[in-house]
Amino acid sequence: MGAKAPLPINRGEASGDPTKARLIPRHVAVVMDGNGRWAQARGKARIQGHRRGVETARQLTSLCGRAGVEYLTLFAFSSENWKRPLEEVRFLSQLLISSLENEIPRLQENQIQLNVIGDFRPFGHKVEELIARARDQTLSNTAMTLTIALNYGGRWDLTKAVRELATACEERRMTASEIDESTLSQTLSTGNLPDPDLFIRTGGEIRLSNFLLWQLAYTELFFTDNLWPDFGEAQFEQALDAYKRRQRRFGQTGEQVTT
Ligand code: IPE
Ligand code: IPE
Ligand code: MG
Repeated sequence: MGAKAPLPINRGEASGDPTKARLIPRHVAVVMDGNGRWAQARGKARIQGHRRGVETARQLTSLCGRAGVEYLTLFAFSSENWKRPLEEVRFLSQLLISSLENEIPRLQENQIQLNVIGDFRPFGHKVEELIARARDQTLSNTAMTLTIALNYGGRWDLTKAVRELATACEERRMTASEIDESTLSQTLSTGNLPDPDLFIRTGGEIRLSNFLLWQLAYTELFFTDNLWPDFGEAQFEQALDAYKRRQRRFGQTGEQVTT
């Protein structure tokens, strides 16, 4: 870790207690990008990069637990990733099944609750069952919530929420005037999560790629050229260090935030 800022200036108002400065992000959201390029640079097939990527995800989960992060959200498969070659999509789907099967004991051991967001039905019955089982088994774990975004898209999430609210209005369970930022937030697939404090994207691209579009409104963004399989402890420390140095103003002036 590099030299540290002398004074804590970061205030995590978005995540709970507005009076309390938070130097550790409560919720970290990650676009795990660069698996394919990592493998290709080593003369390997892209799928080998995805395999390594699972190990990186496992390691980051444990690093987050140790750092005191309460929520970790990982973008594993986007609603646009179906456009990839069938063979890669099939491999990712198999990798998902084996990871879900293998990781449950580790989640239990570390008191981690598993949550999945996205429309995972196209992955088939087996995945649906595995997800339901993993969710049930880890429901009472309280150390951290690990959310996997699977066939997730921010536009899908918003569209689904708007449709649900419109249906509730049509069926007279609510009125249009009751729709506000809070009801919309709660209707999103992340309704039970606080907004992310820190967003990390590996792989060098500076874009959101349709990740948590609404939820990232005031998130601190951290982009790195490191490819996902190379994102280890030192790289995570760098991201945390960058986060600590940010001044979260939420529209206020710097003076207002420091006094
Ligand atoms: C991210 O790595 C993993 C998924 C999108 C599933 P990529 O597969 O996008 O890797 P690059 O960007 O092609 O290197
Ligand atoms: C974003 O990565 C999706 C995931 C990491 C799951 P992509 O590699 O799919 O993003 P684009 O296509 O380069 O924007
Ligand atoms: Mg990519």
